[in-house]
Amino acid sequence: MKLKEILICLSLTPSCFAVLPLVINTWPFQDATSTAWSTLCSGGVALDAVEKGCAQCEKERCDESVGFGGSPDETGETTLDAMIMNGDTMEVGAVGGLRRIKNAIGVARAVMERTKHTFLVGESASVFAENMGFPAEDLTTNQSLSVFKKWLMENCQPNYRQSVSPDPSMSCGPYKPCAMIQQRRHQFIDIHAHDTIGMVVINQAGQVAAGTSTNGARHKVPGRVGDSPIAGAGAYADSAAGGAAATGDGDIMMRFLPSYLAVEQMRAGVDPSTACRIAITRIKKYYPSFFGAIICANTTGSYGAACNKLPGFSQFPFMVFNQKTNGPIKETVDCV
Ligand SMILES: *[C@@H]1O[C@H](CO)[C@@H](O)[C@H](O)[C@H]1NC(C)=O
Ligand SMILES: *[C@@H]1O[C@H](CO)[C@@H](O)[C@H](O)[C@H]1NC(C)=O
Repeated sequence: MKLKEILICLSLTPSCFAVLPLVINTWPFQDATSTAWSTLCSGGVALDAVEKGCAQCEKERCDESVGFGGSPDETGETTLDAMIMNGDTMEVGAVGGLRRIKNAIGVARAVMERTKHTFLVGESASVFAENMGFPAEDLTTNQSLSVFKKWLMENCQPNYRQSVSPDPSMSCGPYKPCAMIQQRRHQFIDIHAHDTIGMVVINQAGQVAAGTSTNGARHKVPGRVGDSPIAGAGAYADSAAGGAAATGDGDIMMRFLPSYLAVEQMRAGVDPSTACRIAITRIKKYYPSFFGAIICANTTGSYGAACNKLPGFSQFPFMVFNQKTNGPIKETVDCV
């Protein structure tokens, strides 16, 4: 972002105590933060800032876990999940298993604004996007192809199947159901197989918007949609309470609607850090070794984050931009 834009934005609010507007997002995806901020400063509403910020990550393929060319599924294809939520109107647009289209959060916004639906999935979502003018492009790159080939050579490990034969811990299928086996402890695959961008933006007037974008879990079963595009799970926004966004093991996290839970806590007067911790603690009670983190912000611009402590994951990094930080800064929270 250009210095001039920062200065213009800072001059909007002379009070040094002002903490709005606020941009906060998961992981140290700094360009996404700056893009959201400059979108606000050039007159965009909170919703525009969330869309442009997350779209920046889609272009840059943040950590290869957002956008095209990452997280190939069992067949080698990359598909995208995204959502956007307007906390003023409680409108949501979402896409899951989107094929061929790079700008998933843009399509999510089109679902919100150009249909009366909330959530479109799969091939049909892609046809919708093409009709709305989004270019159809191959989401495969040499990189995603090589991740896929390596996985095939390693007998399709790691693998998300269970209670099937042949034994999914040693084979590539095709699988058939077999006698249910004692469910193994959830396999800890690789934290960077889950780095969704989740963003909350609150403008000067306290209007909240939130959104997410991801290419999902690496080596997922085709058709798998994670928590990211699900309102209340991946993100939630309510201009009467605040906003939250989650990242991590979506298959588990979506069962607890952590973003909704955190926003409801803030509505009840709980501070953002505690609200985030409550959402993580709820999941931890059932899945002590789940991988996940969440960011929270209330309508007066206070914010916090929380994460579940695991071997090799004791701190969660996230980005913040407001008048006080005077730039996109990385903060970290100690996991609980
Ligand atoms: C992908 O690999 C092919 C063959 O190795 C090569 O010709 C092509 O330039 C590569 N594409 C990119 C974008 O690197
Ligand atoms: C937001 O959280 C801060 C810190 O706990 C608190 O002082 C403030 O009153 C909260 N704002 C609202 C609107 O609840």
